[in-house]
Amino acid sequence: MKKIIVANWKMFGSIGSWNKYIEELRPFLSPQVHVVLCPPFPYLFSASQEGIDIGAQNCHEKLQGPFTGEVSAKMLRDVGCTYVIIGHSERRHHESDAQIVNKINSAREAGLVPILCVGETKQEREKNETRQVLERQLREHIPLQDIIVAYEPVWAIGTGVSADTADIVETHGFIKSLVPGRSILYGGSVNGSNAHSILSQHNVDGVLVGGASIEASQFGPIIQAGVAV
Ligand code: PGA
Repeated sequence: MKKIIVANWKMFGSIGSWNKYIEELRPFLSPQVHVVLCPPFPYLFSASQEGIDIGAQNCHEKLQGPFTGEVSAKMLRDVGCTYVIIGHSERRHHESDAQIVNKINSAREAGLVPILCVGETKQEREKNETRQVLERQLREHIPLQDIIVAYEPVWAIGTGVSADTADIVETHGFIKSLVPGRSILYGGSVNGSNAHSILSQHNVDGVLVGGASIEASQFGPIIQAGVAV
């Protein structure tokens, strides 16, 4: 199966920088890997190119309504998105599990594939609560066939310290046992140096990349790693 390589651009860049990025990324694209770019909302259009799928970093719970400043899953579908990241740990602080369930439902209703982020904090890991946390975060979504799960240990995000491959294999195995048949991505300090080894692991169907996706020169080698495994 093709590896899924997702870029989460977070709140970075400008129209000029993203246009240049797309040019620089083009030589790295390959039909052997599935690349999804998730830009900030205003740059969705500039990211949409042949050979690339577009996702958003968030959507509102409702499909429409009087919610000033919000963007619905239906609008995202309308402008060409096919994916949406939901429940990223940088957002979970101000989102309840119930809101995340509503967002997933909205995304599916609008025809988007939700990329549901799950993962334990450093404290939860130290208390040996990882499995409980993942079970709680996934419980409501277990019957859903059309979601992608991204395992993103919170302590590995943006820290430069990724989970080690033995931990990734164990945790992905656990997640697969809860949601068999779904693609499971790993996220948290993935870069050009560790991508190949992470992507080679059993039950790792792809990666969700933050910091190392902001420059095409760093993201390109991660795509190449996805081709090489
Ligand atoms: P990182 O972020 O690659 O910078 O650790 C991953 C993410 O936030 O999805």
